[in-house]
Amino acid sequence: MFSRRSLLAAGAAGLILSSAAQAQETVKIGMILPMTGPFASTGRQIEAAAKLYIAQHGDRVAGKKIQLLVQDDGGVADQTKRIAQEMIVNQKVAVLTGFGLTPLAFAVAPLATQAKVPTIVMAAATSSITEKSPYILRTSFTLPQAAVPLADWAAKEGIKTVVTVVADYGPGIDAETAFKNRFGAAGGQVTESIRVPVANPDFAPFLQRVKDAKPNAVFVFVPSGVGSAFMKQFKERGLAEAGIKLIGTGDVTDDDILNSMGDVALGTITTHHYSAAHDSPENKAFVTAFKAANKDMRPNFMAAGGYDGIALIYQALKATNGATGGDALLAAMKTAKWESPRGPVAIDPQTRELVQNIYLREVKSVGGELYNVEFGKAEAVKDPAKSPAN
Ligand code: PHB
Repeated sequence: MFSRRSLLAAGAAGLILSSAAQAQETVKIGMILPMTGPFASTGRQIEAAAKLYIAQHGDRVAGKKIQLLVQDDGGVADQTKRIAQEMIVNQKVAVLTGFGLTPLAFAVAPLATQAKVPTIVMAAATSSITEKSPYILRTSFTLPQAAVPLADWAAKEGIKTVVTVVADYGPGIDAETAFKNRFGAAGGQVTESIRVPVANPDFAPFLQRVKDAKPNAVFVFVPSGVGSAFMKQFKERGLAEAGIKLIGTGDVTDDDILNSMGDVALGTITTHHYSAAHDSPENKAFVTAFKAANKDMRPNFMAAGGYDGIALIYQALKATNGATGGDALLAAMKTAKWESPRGPVAIDPQTRELVQNIYLREVKSVGGELYNVEFGKAEAVKDPAKSPAN
């Protein structure tokens, strides 16, 4: 006969065992996003897309249960770092994801290296981020990837002079540099480069300077969410009437806010990796499901980064047969390729950047809504800042 005490002890051991087994069966994905503050739209879009991917593909992969943990850093780098630390040490996450802005990605890079945790940047887009840790991969884009094909297009269109206006931090400086070098090499000239503050920028004085300089076109980079304020001032200053064409990376005509910009946005030419209007069966299914799951939202390029980030994790887990060691997952991620709502994509194993098409788009009214309508593409673009052949 067993004593009551030994039965209790056996029961407790069983409980401990089963929760340990359960822990091994669960793969935690730590997602850190700005869910509040001026860049909350980025967090909202990425979270919605990540949850959609899991809902569509099921929460079990290679015998493991997927658990998504989402935490808000408010867009503050100290918070990103603190949350990442907590997720690594206490939650024992297998992968870190999210990162709405460049400084937030920079803040976690040393932790990713130290803990050997694959870290997928779904939003931030300064080229050098992936060089800050060998454990960082990216499913968004880099500003040079988007800016170079636009410089080629502008030169081909006969645009001779451009003033650049960019947000004064990593991605803006990358965009300015890549556009200026490529456009200059193609025979064009950037006559003035203006940098505006990242936080609450007042574009009016800067756009007045552009108007006075009378270039053929103004090239703009502002981070997702800030495009409306820019467009409002572009209109109020009368730049279009002065014959100055508006071009930029697609961040300024972000699908999340494009519809609310009004007619001033019509005709804007941008280059980017994702448009809600991208014409493919994969994207039509994605947009339909995203809208059905999220009332009054339309997916933007941040959503594409979130959706593909989870796709990358699922693919890697399948390849490792559910093994979650950081180095095994990282190795599997480095050779991943798949069909995204944005088109065919692959991780470049050398740089851990996404190789993807960059589309030329024009803002048009389609069925009473404003869309970035694609009219051309550069195929399989690597990050030109790291792959000079592109
Ligand atoms: C960035 O901070 O890296 C960033 C944010 C928003 C964008 C692009 C880049 O649209």
